[in-house]
Amino acid sequence: MPAALLVDWRRDGLCERVCQTPMLRPRSPAGRIEASASARVEPGHTWVVDVYVETGRLVLRRFTSDDLELVVELDGDPQVKRYIDGGLRVDRRELVETLQWWLGYYDRGERYGFWAAIEKSSGRFIGWFHLRPGEGAGPLEPELGYRLRRDAWGQGYATEGSRALIDKAFAELGADRV
Ligand SMILES: CC(C)(COP(=O)(O)OP(=O)(O)OC[C@H]1O[C@@H](n2cnc3c(N)ncnc32)[C@H](O)[C@@H]1OP(=O)(O)O)[C@@H](O)C(=O)NCCC(=O)NCCS
Repeated sequence: MPAALLVDWRRDGLCERVCQTPMLRPRSPAGRIEASASARVEPGHTWVVDVYVETGRLVLRRFTSDDLELVVELDGDPQVKRYIDGGLRVDRRELVETLQWWLGYYDRGERYGFWAAIEKSSGRFIGWFHLRPGEGAGPLEPELGYRLRRDAWGQGYATEGSRALIDKAFAELGADRV
């Protein structure tokens, strides 16, 4: 299970910047987790975020089924697909299945998987990273991958997210090789 990051609005203002993204769910006083993404943040509220890794500028969080349109838009850019998947635009139905497959990693409680990258300063989705063993690879040899929106290129985000995932793989997940 990824760590849940408790974001205190009063303490660091982070929640104020990222609360409009679906990664945040308010936790009611009774401790029940509500499935709401758009509620206004009140001072003193504690929010729960399924965060895998946090860097200076990024949060890598779990995907949810609400993220489909973000993934469709990302893969709809021919420049993003230029060197991958044979440059072909992926059919929407395939992306529905892809997202389900990604969600399966969390359901199975795996340490690895696919993670939505959120720019902390804006709260926007900028793409995704994966850290998981490729086909035929052993559990100690996760593969790193990334796909970012064009408007996020050239700002060092791939490097920043990758470094954090590589560090996590060796320091926390017992990887022999990434
Ligand atoms: C590849 C990609 C993730 C790089 O994102 P980014 O945030 O702009 O990368 P950074 O700013 O951290 O890049 C650091 C450097 O590494 C290079 N780099 C990073 N990943 C690379 C890759 N897979 N292939 C070639 N060069 C890469 C960048 O071009 C950059 O080089 P530069 O400093 O000489 O310009 C982005 O361009 C992208 O999403 N492209 C479309 C999807 C894709 O091709 N993904 C990789 C599939 S293996």
